[in-house]
Amino acid sequence: MASIRPLNGFRDFYPPAFAERAHIFATWRRVAARYGFVEYDGPPLEPLELYTKKSGAEIVDQLYNFVDKGGRDVSLRPEMTPTVARMVAAQANALRKPVRWFSIPQLFRYERAQRGRLREHFQLNADIFGDGGESADAELLAMVIDILREFGLTSDDVRVRLSDRRLLNAVLHAMGHPAERIPAIYAVLDKLDRQPRELSVEKLATAGCTTAQVDALLALIEQTNATGVAALAPLLQDAEGATRLAAMQETLAMTQALIGTAVAPWVRLDLTIVRGLAYYTGIVFEVFDAKGELRAVCGGGRYDELLNALGGVDMPAAGFGWGDVVLGELLRDRGLLPSAPPSPEVWVAAGDDVDVATVRATVGALRRAGRRVEYALRPQQLGKQLKAAVSAGAAHALILRGDAPEGGTVRDLTSGAETSVVLATWLANQR
Ligand code: HAM
Repeated sequence: MASIRPLNGFRDFYPPAFAERAHIFATWRRVAARYGFVEYDGPPLEPLELYTKKSGAEIVDQLYNFVDKGGRDVSLRPEMTPTVARMVAAQANALRKPVRWFSIPQLFRYERAQRGRLREHFQLNADIFGDGGESADAELLAMVIDILREFGLTSDDVRVRLSDRRLLNAVLHAMGHPAERIPAIYAVLDKLDRQPRELSVEKLATAGCTTAQVDALLALIEQTNATGVAALAPLLQDAEGATRLAAMQETLAMTQALIGTAVAPWVRLDLTIVRGLAYYTGIVFEVFDAKGELRAVCGGGRYDELLNALGGVDMPAAGFGWGDVVLGELLRDRGLLPSAPPSPEVWVAAGDDVDVATVRATVGALRRAGRRVEYALRPQQLGKQLKAAVSAGAAHALILRGDAPEGGTVRDLTSGAETSVVLATWLANQR
């Protein structure tokens, strides 16, 4: 019978792949802890309605949903935000604010599997609830940059593209676009990089923009990309516009203070970042590789109304989701991922006249001292044992000697250098 393969878009994690995943998770957890975030989880299967209410068409089209044996409409979780919004809303009064929570759920989306897109992925979610200000936004942006740095990436490798829906609305208002046209403009901006310019121009015209408005909008986007937030100052003269502009400048300044280095090489204001999810209300951002070869590594933003929609609680919220797939590609490409699972620190080998029982006792003592230890489970020639130790990637072999049971030889398996040791002393030093 032909072997049954995993489903398209699902991964088997053999130990080398699992080592990469473990490295990614450990790095995420380390930085999250430094920012005072605590870990939580929720159910992988949820009522379908949790997503159809607020996530928006893009996610709803990709749901891995079915009717369960009790006739309930359910879905595997495609994202964590609705779950965490529900959880926080349910205990809103009891929780210490601001709430800083993170999770690393496995998520499922029925997408066409392709490079950077699978039907399951793991996603770091870090969210702050109960603070609607720029400080919370800056905490998240700084955390994103610190995670990138913790992986060994630099501002030459990656770019945070930042926008704000409130700022964009103020810009569009100042350019004379009526509120009802804004969703259509959002849709065009979202695809601006990915579709021919003529098509964007055509869609903007269909949405009701004059030729002058189209030209002005596209020119402004180019200018902001090139020169930053200052490019918007001449346009944003009314109170709302000026407030939004100042807030963006404040967020960037706070982020800079937190990361302890210039923010400009890391973060670029980019008005084409609108994000597909329907619930964002404030800042929105995505992280991309600087060469622009890969899909977004991470995406997030502020969603101040979701807790109300899902849990009837007024509580501002912001956060981001960071997948393991595109990140893995980027890190692998840069040689920043471990290439193998952890190997034994010590291989205990039996020399002449030493039986496996004696080896076992030493192995046990070393393991109780916290060392990672392997040995040959059956009697074998010393040469064979040492070969096995090398192929397991062990750093050292401890060779027990039958003629001098109190002593042993420690062999450095890279250099081949050998040192005689007194066993009891050597073992005592392993703690
Ligand atoms: P998202 O932009 O849909 O946002 O996903 C965030 C990240 O997850 C993406 O940038 C990408 O790295 C990864 N990702 C998404 N779909 C896939 C897939 N099919 N295969 C591999 N990786 C994928 C959200 O999910 C929001 N809920 C994030 C958020 C948290 N916003 C606020 N808090």
